[in-house]
Order: sequence, then structure tokens, then C-alpha cells
Amino acid sequence: SDEIFHGVPLTDIPTLFQTPPVLSDMQDLDDRGHTFMIKPFKYDASNPNLDPEPIHGMGNYHDIWDDEHVRMPCSPLHLTNDRAPRWPIIQNALAELKQKCDEKIATVNDIKIAIDKSNGTNFEIGSLQQVLNQDYSDDQRAYFMSFTLPKMVSFALEVGNICSQPPPLLNIKTNRTVTMSQRQAASLLACGFFCIFPHQFNRKIDNKHHSYQSFNFNHLFRSGSACQPEKLKCILHYFKRVSEDMPKGVFSFRRFSLPDEWIPKWKESHAPLCKIHIRTDRSIEEMHGLLQVDFANEYIGGGVMREGITQEEIRFTVCPEMLISILVCEVMLSHECILLIGCEQFTTYSGYADTFKFKDNFIDTTPKESWGRKLCHVVAMDAIEFKDPVTQYTFENMRRELIKAYTCFRFLKSMEKCMFGVATGNWGCGAFNGDLQLKAIIQLMVASEVGRPLVYITWHDQTLLESFWIVYDYLANQQATVKDLCIYLQLYSMNHKQSGLFDYILNVPVSSLREAYKNDSA
Ligand code: AR6
Repeated sequence: SDEIFHGVPLTDIPTLFQTPPVLSDMQDLDDRGHTFMIKPFKYDASNPNLDPEPIHGMGNYHDIWDDEHVRMPCSPLHLTNDRAPRWPIIQNALAELKQKCDEKIATVNDIKIAIDKSNGTNFEIGSLQQVLNQDYSDDQRAYFMSFTLPKMVSFALEVGNICSQPPPLLNIKTNRTVTMSQRQAASLLACGFFCIFPHQFNRKIDNKHHSYQSFNFNHLFRSGSACQPEKLKCILHYFKRVSEDMPKGVFSFRRFSLPDEWIPKWKESHAPLCKIHIRTDRSIEEMHGLLQVDFANEYIGGGVMREGITQEEIRFTVCPEMLISILVCEVMLSHECILLIGCEQFTTYSGYADTFKFKDNFIDTTPKESWGRKLCHVVAMDAIEFKDPVTQYTFENMRRELIKAYTCFRFLKSMEKCMFGVATGNWGCGAFNGDLQLKAIIQLMVASEVGRPLVYITWHDQTLLESFWIVYDYLANQQATVKDLCIYLQLYSMNHKQSGLFDYILNVPVSSLREAYKNDSA
């Protein structure tokens, strides 16, 4: 084929499909940090319509209102400012909307009325109005108002029945996992759409920023940037799809916090360079069966609920179940990551950033494992945002990025035998101002340390494709190790003003580097 790449062919990179993780049955899993929002479930490919049941059974809601769980719209403790229960107000407002939908007289303004009544506020919804009143054809609008919208109302009104308990919060410094069904996700997302989630548990960090973002959609509805209506089209398309045919799958979010004692001793590591496949075309999300990196914000999802629309926001928009991580995941620390396992893609897109557009329906044919989760693993990996790019060359900041990438690339315990590749690329080098060459070496070093092959997407950057390959080839020919790369980084942190990192490496042969550092094993 005319594919342009350097390194090993893609077919030489092991995938999740070849050795899917061996999972114990849900009921046998001895992991107190794992909350199942569904009854033990076993996916059977010959009976794919088996629907996972809520953990306490349908219609059996167990409320919890504390700092460890999502506070639910239907909780009896969800109160108005006058301390009246809020849920009956929401029920009325949504029932009125549904009535109008059924009578085929609902307008966008009725959505606004329902949201405002539920909240006792007055939200501006310019972007939503634009989609429904201007961008949609008459047929699209009529279909949405009379078919999709009333279903969304039902998903929201039934949230207690469908979820049967609040999802747990994956708070800072915990190793917690939550597994839920796609139906539960649709219900939580519908609640977000109608902006009915109460104020959630939220603490101040550094005495200024809150530790959670809001999950209600009101910011996304506002008029603002051109991407907001496009993002809404993707999300409304998702609701259309799940209203027509509710998917029966399952997915998990897993928060992982790397213990200090697991941080590698880079300068003692003789691990050789990992295999690499570098290419410019294709995107990370097209690298099926690999660990796909989400170029995340420490607040997972970044600006997806507002005006942001780069790699992370696009991914969350075409896979809206990922948005639920905003509801359950507290801000990530430097040695933490969040794994999104099994989320489905529903739409395709065109363009990027300012030119981003909803494109079309997408049928996601990714196979499923025994729990009913798609074999799609995405890891949220947040780089440092360098307001002043010079600060990235301190060894302390390099070390932070090494630890973050290590936290994300290292194997899950259950998957030690399954060394599927990592698909990444210009991590931290767009919105966050990182140096492409430095991030390439950092990620190469970490993938080598954990022994996973690397698929590196340079995203239309031909120069990086060629120059990274030249450096890789040069290092590999000299049998460079993780320790050598670490020494290059240390030296470069003191000499970064002279040249780019790749040139710096090409000017110092590995043998002379080792000679100079022979006695520096500490
Ligand atoms: N596949 C591969 N590479 C891509 C893709 C893709 N689908 N999309 C973009 N790139 P950026 P950051 C390349 O800026 O710098 C968000 O708001 C492209 O070269 O999204 O880590 C988050 O929420 C692009 O310039 O990541 C954070 O707040 C580069 O990847 C913040 O941005 C970096 O993409 C993270 O910024």
C-alpha cells in the first residue's frame, strides 16, 4: 500500500484484539474499589441484546448523599433555596415539556422553560436555539421535538430507576473504578442536558480552584464560539441513536494513582528502546485495539462543556459517554490518570478547532469482551500547560511529564500478558505549548521503560515524522537505553538554548555520553 510510515508496520504492533484481557466474572471480582452499577453480567455474543440490569433492580432506588457519590437530581435531599424538595419541581417541568412534545407543539423555548423551571433560573441557550431553529431542517427539527426529546425526558425522569444508586466519585488519591451500562449513561447524560444535577461535592484546591467541573450543559447551550452548535449536533445525534435503539453495552472509568515507590529509577534502567511506528496521516482514535491517549486537561474533558474543541474535546463529543467522567472524576494530580474503557463512538467529524463540524452517523463495530465493554481503551493524560514555554526545560518539569506518561502507559495488573501498543503523538504540544521533540523523547523513554510498542501520530507534521525517525534510528543503532535517554534530557535541561533536542542528541554519540557519565550511577 502507499501508506507512509517509519519503523515497524502497524501489523507488527500487538493489539487488544489479539489477546483480550482475561476478566474474572463480575461477581467474583474481589475489588472493593470497584463499584458495579449493574448486576453481574456476562456478555454473550450469540445473544447481544441481553440488557444489563441496574444493581438494585429496576425501580428500587437507593439514595446516598455524601462526599463519595454523585448527588442525584432525584435525591430527596436535593432542595431548593427554600429547602423544598427539588425533584417534584423537575418532574412537573419535564412532564409539561413531554406533554407538549406529545401534542407536537413543543418549541425550543419550551426546552428553555423546562430547564429554567427545574433550576429556578434563567439560562441563555443561544447555541441550542441555533441548532434547532436554524441549522436543522424542518424534518430534523420535527423528528427531534416529537421523537428524540420526549425519550430524553423519560431517560431523565427515570434516572433513579435506571441507575438505582448514585455513581461513586473517583476522588483524588483513590484507585476507584465504576462500571455502568450504556442505558445508565444515557439517563445521566439526559439529566446533564436538562441541567438538573444539584451542586456536587466540590472542594477547593490551592485555595482557589474547585476540584470538579460542572456537568450540567448550560454553558454549552450559551451562544459563544462556532464549535458549540457543532458539538451539540454530535450530542443530539447521540440522543437520537440511543432513543431509536438503546445500546446494551457496558463501560468503565478507572482512576489510577501511582504509588511513589513505583516511580522508575530512570537512571538505573537498562531497558532498550521499544518498537515504534511513526506516521502523519490517521488519528489516534483510528488506532483500534491500542491504548489511545487522550491529550487531556487535569480536569478531564477540558473545555468540552464550554468553548474548547481540540483533541480531547473532539473525542468526548464523538463519544458522549466519556462526558460522564466529568461528573465522576475529580481533578487529576501529577501521578494520576483515568482510563476510559469501552465507550462507543456515535458520530464522525470533519475539521479541527475553529473548523470542527459534525459530519455523520458512525457505526462503531469494535468487538466486546466478556463484560460487554468494547475493546477500546483510552487514557486521559494531562500535560503541563506551559504559559512560558522555556519552563518546560527544567529537569523537574521533564520529570513530572515522565511520571505522568509512566502512570498512563504502565500495564494494568490484569493485563500484564497483553502488551498492546500505545497510540499517541503531539501530547501537550497544541493548546499546552509543549516542545514536539521533547515530548517525543519523553514518551519514547516511557514506552521503552514499560516495554510497550509505540504508535506515534505526528498529525500532518512531515518534518517531525522524518526527524523523529532519524533520531530513533540513530539511538537504536547505538543500543541506547532508558538510562541514556534520561542523561540526554538532564544534559539538555542545561543546554537547551543551543539547539533543538533532536540535534542535541545527534551531536552527542551514546558512547561518549556513557563515557562522561560512567561514574554517575547515583
Ligand atoms: N490524533 C492525533 N493527533 C492529534 C489529534 C488526533 N485526533 N488531534 C490533534 N492532534 P491538543 P494539548 C495533535 O492541543 O496541547 C484541550 O483543551 C495536533 O498536532 O488537543 O495537550 C484539553 O482539554 C495537536 O496540536 O493537546 C487540554 O485542556 C496536538 O495533537 C488541552 O487541550 C495536541 O492537541 C491539552 O492541550
